[in-house]
Amino acid sequence: MTLRATSQENESAPLSRRSVSEGGSPHLPEPAFHDPRHHIKIFHGDCLQILAAIPASSIDLIFADPPYFLSNGGITCHAGRMVSVNKGEWDRSRGPSANHEFNTAWLAACQRVLKPDASIWVSGTSHVIHSVGFAMQQLGFKLLNDISWVKPNPPPNLSCRYFTHATETIIWAARDKKSRHKFNYKLMRQIAGGKQMKSVWTIPPPEPWEKKFGKHPAQKPLALIERILLASSSEGDLVLDPFLGSGTTALAALRLSRHALGIEFESASLDLTLHRICSDLVQVEISLSCAQFSLDLFSYPMDRSNSMTMSDTLSAKLVRRERNYYFVGSLRREIIYSAPADSLEEAWRKFSASSHSATEILFIIKTETQIYLA
Ligand SMILES: C[S@@+](CC[C@H](N)C(=O)[O-])C[C@H]1O[C@@H](n2cnc3c(N)ncnc32)[C@H](O)[C@@H]1O
Repeated sequence: MTLRATSQENESAPLSRRSVSEGGSPHLPEPAFHDPRHHIKIFHGDCLQILAAIPASSIDLIFADPPYFLSNGGITCHAGRMVSVNKGEWDRSRGPSANHEFNTAWLAACQRVLKPDASIWVSGTSHVIHSVGFAMQQLGFKLLNDISWVKPNPPPNLSCRYFTHATETIIWAARDKKSRHKFNYKLMRQIAGGKQMKSVWTIPPPEPWEKKFGKHPAQKPLALIERILLASSSEGDLVLDPFLGSGTTALAALRLSRHALGIEFESASLDLTLHRICSDLVQVEISLSCAQFSLDLFSYPMDRSNSMTMSDTLSAKLVRRERNYYFVGSLRREIIYSAPADSLEEAWRKFSASSHSATEILFIIKTETQIYLA
């Protein structure tokens, strides 16, 4: 569905029910991913263009993790080695004025789409956060808190001329001075063990399982975004991330029953996001490690120093080889069609000849099976 805001009436209707009308406002492109059942929509493109097409006053909460502007040939320590800081072209500094202009532009675009009582969280290192704070003041946001996110095991400072950088700042602000922002105070107090939660949060970097589908150089821990969502939104609220990266905000929203809207312009990051979300959606992980056979057909001695190896005694004959394609539905989140086929093209031809249509499909899983007779 393509949506765009053109009238006052459109601006007060929920995002999912806006009408598409003719006029000068920019169109939202087709989303790269749309799951209407869980209310997740992800756009592939530049956030400035896409934000301009989102209806005004339609978003309950924004989490934004913009470019840090720090990939300019400096050095850092990664896995014990000295490496140059290069997160990607998107992170290159264009100079303080141009960087501030960009921050002001996307913050103004975010402010336009926030509901009157909505709030925004912006994370960043010292390279960007002061510009963000200043732009927020210039735009008339109401600054609520600045959270110090403490990383328990930061990489050492190799030059030994500075303190080890161990924090990032997350600014929390309401849309404007009149906003009556949401704060789930009791829940935060409960999470803090019955005391008022402080603005210093110690949260470890993403766990290995959060990176099992690939790495994003600036991936935030799920626990951090979940706390933000729990603190300042309710179930069913629409949460927007204009710099989605690896999709952490969309994933946190899905897990906490919030609705999610994400924007990302790099294809590789978008792929990673879709991988993470699809995996969570079906909660099915097909990997060889799951296929553990405990059949003890032969009593091989555990002492492998014995000269007789398994291949000496076991002549296994391949008796069955099969490649299957499973089509998982977008509304009914289950396998709605499956077919053996040599390639995706052949499987797709078979699927097209069936009674199903392409619009019913969220994604396709391919499996390979080989059975050997001993
Ligand atoms: C700091 S990272 C966000 C990481 C994210 N919070 C996560 O947990 O994975 C910033 C991301 O914004 C994207 N980006 C930068 N400029 C953008 C723009 N103008 N429009 C859309 N995406 C942009 C980059 O490709 C990058 O993936």
